[in-house]
Amino acid sequence: MADRARNGKVTVVGAGFYGSTTALRLAEYDVFDSVVLTDIVEGRPEGLALDINQSRAIEGFGTRVVGVGGGSYDGTEDSDVVVITAGLPRKPGMSRMDLLETNAGIVRTVAENVARTSPDAVVIVVSNPLDEMTALAQLATGFPRGRVMGQAGMLDTARFTHNVAEELGVPVSSVRTLTLGSHGDTMVPVPSRCTVDGRPLADVLSPDRIAHLVERTRNGGAEVVALLKTGSAYFAPSAAAARMARAVIEDSGAVMPVCAWVDGEYGISGVYLGVEAEIGREGVRRVVEGDLSDSELAGLREAADAVRSKQADVADL
Ligand code: LAC
Repeated sequence: MADRARNGKVTVVGAGFYGSTTALRLAEYDVFDSVVLTDIVEGRPEGLALDINQSRAIEGFGTRVVGVGGGSYDGTEDSDVVVITAGLPRKPGMSRMDLLETNAGIVRTVAENVARTSPDAVVIVVSNPLDEMTALAQLATGFPRGRVMGQAGMLDTARFTHNVAEELGVPVSSVRTLTLGSHGDTMVPVPSRCTVDGRPLADVLSPDRIAHLVERTRNGGAEVVALLKTGSAYFAPSAAAARMARAVIEDSGAVMPVCAWVDGEYGISGVYLGVEAEIGREGVRRVVEGDLSDSELAGLREAADAVRSKQADVADL
């Protein structure tokens, strides 16, 4: 069998559960030449990389994973995509915002190193609080805004889809949903854009049940944290981040809900916010503005105001 064509290098910064699961998914796609997994801890990324590489003969993928420990960036140079997962996850009872100061210091340092070693990379941030850390990474790298984006909308949308499918006992493939806004208290699940087998959600569920599913979606991350008791979710989050990185390297033009710089769309400007965007080799090609109900639009503007003021604060952290 001919070896398949692969191209590009993706670096995943942070070899915790989120980072290592992301690296595994990226390797198993078998579309990259190499996946570099880094961490400040010595040995963990090297060990995980070796473990993943040993699985290649079984799973049948050729992408090589390289582990780099000790906080080094040697081997990450000229990555096409960098996924920043570095930072602490929350504990039960914590909001993502409680991580702001600690993670800001970590993300700033990582972003500066990425700018130095991979000046042309597209950066995907997943560290929390997500919208603020995405804004900070753009400031610290100095990259064009379209080349820095955050992962959250894909994840929150997937959680909304899961919740609707569970409620109705239908396959997830029957359900389309959308979630915009912040990856926090001002998340905006968008019921008007949700369908079940092509039928509007409002035709198959009562307003009360829809409100319940919207709330469950907003709390989707906290629901997992409360069960795990230590650490936060990583299977669904890594699936979302890996799909975004893949859309970049394949220059796919896929439209995905992501945290992107908004400059005029929905009457909102000057903020990193969860919106739908077309993703390609250069990062965000454009923000895609869709139809929203009046209350959903009001929710999105409220999210923009809340996030904008927090993003102004991170510049000083
Ligand atoms: C979550 C974290 C990763 O939502 O933000 O699970």
